[in-house]
Amino acid sequence: MTIGNQSRRIEASSDGVSPPWTDELGFATDLARRAGLVLTESYGRIERIDYKSKRDVVTSADYASERLVIDAIRDRYPGDAILAEESGEHAGVLRDDGSHNGRTWVIDPLDGTVNYANGIPYYCVSVGLVVGGRPSVGVVFDPARDDCYAATAEGPALLNGQPVAASDKEELSDYVVSMAVIGRGGLARERRIAPLIRIHRRMGSAALSLAYVANGRFDAFIQNGGLSPWDVAAAGLIAERAGAVVTDVNGGPWWKPTVRGPRASILAAPPAQHEPILALLDSLKTRVQARR
Ligand code: IPD
Ligand code: CA
Ligand code: CA
Repeated sequence: MTIGNQSRRIEASSDGVSPPWTDELGFATDLARRAGLVLTESYGRIERIDYKSKRDVVTSADYASERLVIDAIRDRYPGDAILAEESGEHAGVLRDDGSHNGRTWVIDPLDGTVNYANGIPYYCVSVGLVVGGRPSVGVVFDPARDDCYAATAEGPALLNGQPVAASDKEELSDYVVSMAVIGRGGLARERRIAPLIRIHRRMGSAALSLAYVANGRFDAFIQNGGLSPWDVAAAGLIAERAGAVVTDVNGGPWWKPTVRGPRASILAAPPAQHEPILALLDSLKTRVQARR
């Protein structure tokens, strides 16, 4: 089983000393797989879809997956806080001196809900652990392919326990880019980027698309807004540990847990093309705004 293999491989490479986050990585990997099983069991059989807003939907599978994840974290790490998409913030048990241990699990129990509810097998479970404000462990599990992407802040990015690396293509014109340029003028901007790259795709799961950057399935991922911390906590770390440069679309830090909605963006790209893509996005934004 991959979960066990993965833990064993990591431990074996440590010359007898467990690398940081070994326990949490093994736990999160097992947990994401168990939550993925919950999604798989209901896949194609969802009877009720609720609308959180015009475009944002939630299914019983989102809730069931989240319940499983929260219960497991509560059981294993009772002192840790949790931020989960459907139920929000859960405080951890405080220390004797009343302080918090500084650890927060950031969970998207089902990223790609619209795909899932429509029977499109492109969705995932995302489990991240932030320690002292820094993403430290990330696992993204794709149940449809049985693919598990994982990383810690100190280790390599892994796909099913094997190290992976971001794209090493040199030319932007060869890039296959997952892109969601949202907002007014978004599609027009995508059309202006299209001739400069090989092809762009809008996939419907930010976490999985960002994880794909880790092994070069996508050469880059762009979403210019509309994200939440649980979309990126795990996959941003995984892409980074695979060698991609990850920032927001202004070149600032990608992990800003208090920023949500229109201003929450991300760009993950190999070092050679990260700056050129930033410059491109910047110039396009200016032009789109100027036309308003
Ligand atoms: C959404 C997906 C989508 C992204 C949205 C997210 P959800 O998450 O990741 O690809 O464009 O910004 O909210 O609702 O499927 O968990
Ligand atoms: Ca999401
Ligand atoms: Ca979700």
